Amino acid sequence: MATANTGPIDGAPVKPKAKRKPNPKAPRQSVMLLAPEERLDGCREVALGFTPEQVQIEVLRCLQCKNPTCVDACPLHIDIKAFILALGDGDLEAAFEKISEQSPFAGICGRVCQHELYCEKACLMGKKLEPVAIGSLERYVADENRKSKFEIRKSAVGERASNFDAFTSFSTSFRNSNAPRIALVGSGPASLIAAFDLIRKGHQVTVFEALHELGGVLSYGIPNFRLPREILHEEIDRLRQMGVEFRTDFIAGRSCTLDELFASGFAAVFLGTGAGLPHLMGIPGENLIGVYTANELLTRINLMQAYKFPQSDTPVRVGKRTVVVGGGNSAMDAARWARRMGSETTIMFRRGRAELRARIEEIGHAEEEGVRFEFLAAPVRLFGDDKGTLREMECIRMKLGEQDESGRPSPVPIPGSEYRVPVDTVVMAIGQSPNPTVQKATPQLLTQRGKIVVDEAGQTSVPRVFAGGDVARGGSTVILAMRDGRAAAEAIDRAVKELNLPSESVEPRAASVPACREQAAIGETSSTRHSPPAASHLFRILAKRLITPEIAWFEVEAPEVARHWKPGQFVVIRPTATSERIPLTIVDGNADRGSIELVVQAVGKTSRTTVKKEVGDALADLLGPLGQPATIEHVGHVVCVAGGVGVAELLPVARAFRAAGNRVTALCGARSAAQILLDRELRAVADEVLWSTDDGTAGFNGTVVALMRYWRVHHAESLGAAHVIGPIPMMRAAAEVTRTWSVPTFASLNPIMVDGTGMCGGCRVTVGDKVRFACVDGPEFDAHQVDFDELTRRTRAYVEQERISQERQN
Ligand SMILES: Cc1cc2nc3c(=O)[nH]c(=O)nc-3n(C[C@H](O)[C@H](O)[C@H](O)COP(=O)(O)OP(=O)(O)OC[C@H]3O[C@@H](n4cnc5c(N)ncnc54)[C@H](O)[C@@H]3O)c2cc1C
Ligand code: FES
Repeated sequence: MATANTGPIDGAPVKPKAKRKPNPKAPRQSVMLLAPEERLDGCREVALGFTPEQVQIEVLRCLQCKNPTCVDACPLHIDIKAFILALGDGDLEAAFEKISEQSPFAGICGRVCQHELYCEKACLMGKKLEPVAIGSLERYVADENRKSKFEIRKSAVGERASNFDAFTSFSTSFRNSNAPRIALVGSGPASLIAAFDLIRKGHQVTVFEALHELGGVLSYGIPNFRLPREILHEEIDRLRQMGVEFRTDFIAGRSCTLDELFASGFAAVFLGTGAGLPHLMGIPGENLIGVYTANELLTRINLMQAYKFPQSDTPVRVGKRTVVVGGGNSAMDAARWARRMGSETTIMFRRGRAELRARIEEIGHAEEEGVRFEFLAAPVRLFGDDKGTLREMECIRMKLGEQDESGRPSPVPIPGSEYRVPVDTVVMAIGQSPNPTVQKATPQLLTQRGKIVVDEAGQTSVPRVFAGGDVARGGSTVILAMRDGRAAAEAIDRAVKELNLPSESVEPRAASVPACREQAAIGETSSTRHSPPAASHLFRILAKRLITPEIAWFEVEAPEVARHWKPGQFVVIRPTATSERIPLTIVDGNADRGSIELVVQAVGKTSRTTVKKEVGDALADLLGPLGQPATIEHVGHVVCVAGGVGVAELLPVARAFRAAGNRVTALCGARSAAQILLDRELRAVADEVLWSTDDGTAGFNGTVVALMRYWRVHHAESLGAAHVIGPIPMMRAAAEVTRTWSVPTFASLNPIMVDGTGMCGGCRVTVGDKVRFACVDGPEFDAHQVDFDELTRRTRAYVEQERISQERQN
């Protein structure tokens, strides 16, 4: 592969050729690359594309087949033959138009599509020589268009809304406020292409995304040195200009159910929620500090820009020696980032080179950047030091055996071949399962091994609910996700047209009932409808009270959360657009006012920034409600134990226990009388409230755990349950006390979180013999089963980075 540090960016556009004479014998051109030594000090794009001269050579390699097999092999059916012909004629505008008939994402696909598996695999040239470099030509067209901002002629984009006469570029809006409304959930490639097709077919389209950035894996998974973010943003922006609405910080299944989407006027829903649930290795030591899932590492670095730390707020720990386990695109991306962070990096793969699943180009680039490959080996155990930090790994050699269900030879361990290597960072890049939030909230959706079951058109088991991409396939590719999105858009268009909706019936109406029935919207009267979720939302601070100089109570505008939250659940916020994502327990909610209450203690940089917010300010992001509600049952007498700011988090739980008919005793601890929080509010929801202070300035003199023991001496009655919230040492000690009382006890845990939606695994905790994700399985767990030692260590993973961050803030 040719390597050079100059690219086509400054070259002149292709000149028209008078006569085209194919030259199939010319060698396939290799894209210009940033020299390896220039790559490691940042995130500059590595593949620089073709020069105009290379384009001239490459287009003449195309045989212009009468029946071009490449077009059929392209999952989007881009007219490859026609765009290459136009390119050969020097007509870049026509080449761009040809691609744009099928896809507005030439810049993205030209960079990340695995062309070798699709169009290039089918290219006739490949039978005897090398296939035409279709992907690189596509990218060239996109990049040249970007430079000269070609307008697309009316004919270029095919179908469109009937009441629009002219379409001259992606900046023409197709918005038609009388058209049926379609909700697309998730903003990855599957939804993006569906949005493109549906808006052109005349529908109103809203894309709902859980994260604060659009693009799915393109945004949180694929590094910017492979896909520069300005390309991603510009191509998504085309959809916005065409009239597609985007709503971030909205998690379907939590912010709103599918029934509610229908009830608010959406005529059909497409689920493109991806496969972001990371697989773990299931070996001892995988929760040590320094062990990441690829999703967590990549989300921290790509989405939260941890590579800029401390200029950015989110930290990441990449030590001197990194081992990335796996052989797919995630493994290459994680390894290449580790190299850029100065780590000696090895990709360990349990099969051989031939079985690697990553793009061939990425494997080559990883090697050029100094990533080592260790084939036919797998980790069996990880070892840490007394602080729980990863230090060493034990691995075992493998040989290849019979073919398994993946169609590849199965890896077979060689007994006695174990060996150990020192390591500071291990990244698990061994696959992902579909994101489960919508499935869990929609039991009528048929699933198989977590994947939503669909027919060829993407129809699920629920009428007018379609799905595609990784949520239906499991981890796959960008272009197959797009193919699914396109097929579903076609089917949605048909299904909605069959409904023959009068334009009035799709107009959203104000909500008047809280509950939604399955498939409620169509044919119902306006009085049963919900208002549609706002396409954008400001999370404004409506009220603020400083409880102590360090602890603030806020009322924040968050209508969907206010409607759906339950005691024990939390939100993830970012106070500013550069902040970390942090979880905060929902203290209360008011559906009528569309607001929730949060209490924030300034402990780190992000919480300090939040506490400084004032009435009228807005939080940059707020996502929720997240996590499982607390277990609230009628059990008789419940003891609620809280320390510090945990008292605020206890309020809704205590209130719910009492509402369920229990007697509630609240035992709370503070450092001193001045630190006592929310006493009045607590007394309003508990039958009995007792305080302890460490310095004895109020209530019981001692810790809250000592207060528990003291209280029990005078209250021997039977207890139905205990609920503990607060600092980890306090929860651990309180759980030890209730163990001796034989009282079922729940602890609300607060591990470090990133996405809060189950996609990174950063919040994993060990409960009994299982590893659980606190953000989706918790935050409440059986306190007698929690591994508090591990939890304590994991919450200290970034203490040093937090110190650096605070020093910069001061
Ligand atoms: C690190 C990495 C690198 C990759 N590199 C390549 C590559 O180079 N080439 C290639 O072809 N393929 C690559 N892949 C695979 C490819 O990215 C995926 O197959 C593709 O992105 C799937 O698209 P999707 O639209 O189905 O879902 P995704 O891209 O996963 O997008 C799903 C989106 O839905 C959101 N979401 C989930 N649940 C909800 C909810 N309840 N409500 C609202 N939003 C929700 C998620 O936050 C996410 O943004 C890579 C994958 C990874 C992980
Ligand atoms: S899985 Fe990412 S925070 Fe829980």
